[in-house]
Amino acid sequence: MPPPDRPIIAKRVLAWYRRHGRMLPWRGETDPYRILVSEVMLQQTQVDRVIPFYERFLERFPTVEALAGASAADVIRLWGGLGYNRRALFLQKTAQAVVARGGWPKDVDGLQELPGVGPYTSRALAVFAFGARLSVLDVNVRRWVQRVVFGPEWGRAAKDDAALQDAADALVPRGSYDWNQAIMDFGSAVCTAKRPACVSCPLATVCKARPAIERKGMEITASRRKKVVPFKESQRYVRGLVLMLLRERPSLAVPALLTSLQQRDRGITELRVVKALTGLAADGLISMERGRIKLP
Ligand code: ADE
Repeated sequence: MPPPDRPIIAKRVLAWYRRHGRMLPWRGETDPYRILVSEVMLQQTQVDRVIPFYERFLERFPTVEALAGASAADVIRLWGGLGYNRRALFLQKTAQAVVARGGWPKDVDGLQELPGVGPYTSRALAVFAFGARLSVLDVNVRRWVQRVVFGPEWGRAAKDDAALQDAADALVPRGSYDWNQAIMDFGSAVCTAKRPACVSCPLATVCKARPAIERKGMEITASRRKKVVPFKESQRYVRGLVLMLLRERPSLAVPALLTSLQQRDRGITELRVVKALTGLAADGLISMERGRIKLP
């Protein structure tokens, strides 16, 4: 049974989306390959940063076959400064599996069997490429469902992921493509983690979290924030710099690499570089040969 509020929630969110939804290059796209590229890029990177990389990547690798047949080094090069570079290799593995099996699986279970495709990406593909009537739960949509459907109950009852997914799926109206795009924007623009815009929210009358948010004037459903390590102190920073240097040359000797890195930033110790190189090699992002490193 769909919840009784479904029609009104859908109507109000879709009306909001028509006025405030963002124009994004992947909106309206139904080609599974192009959707996969956008969703993988968007998983850990902000929309505005993704757009130029998305366009450049698709220009160079316009089809799943083109990506599958490219060299790993070229794929890493094109991934550019997007970060979390392992995503580039996973994306290529997915493309190779699709080519090897002669096409795309068309439902969530089949899609999830592809390497590099988890619960989120399989649902995004099922909805945007194959028309499934499901909800795609990104971090913003999760928060929105927790608030609107469960309210303060969510924190108290510690419900599981399946309950959240079921509740979100039950709210999907006909036209799940637009609904999912709409709710992603709604979650990131209105139902924000800090200081949600409840005052102007079109769902104020049906939202289960609203009374508590008003009463306490505070965030009630967001999870606790982890302590954030400054980016320049992270290993991700060193890994990113190593790949940036390697993108520009065929190979580099380790001492020369160390000098280049320390000229850029004196806070980069030899130990951090060694750790970065070990990690990058284990992830298949670089190879080492007789003291020289290069893209694989
Ligand atoms: N984040 C993940 N997928 C998205 C999409 N299709 N539109 C906007 N933000 C997103």
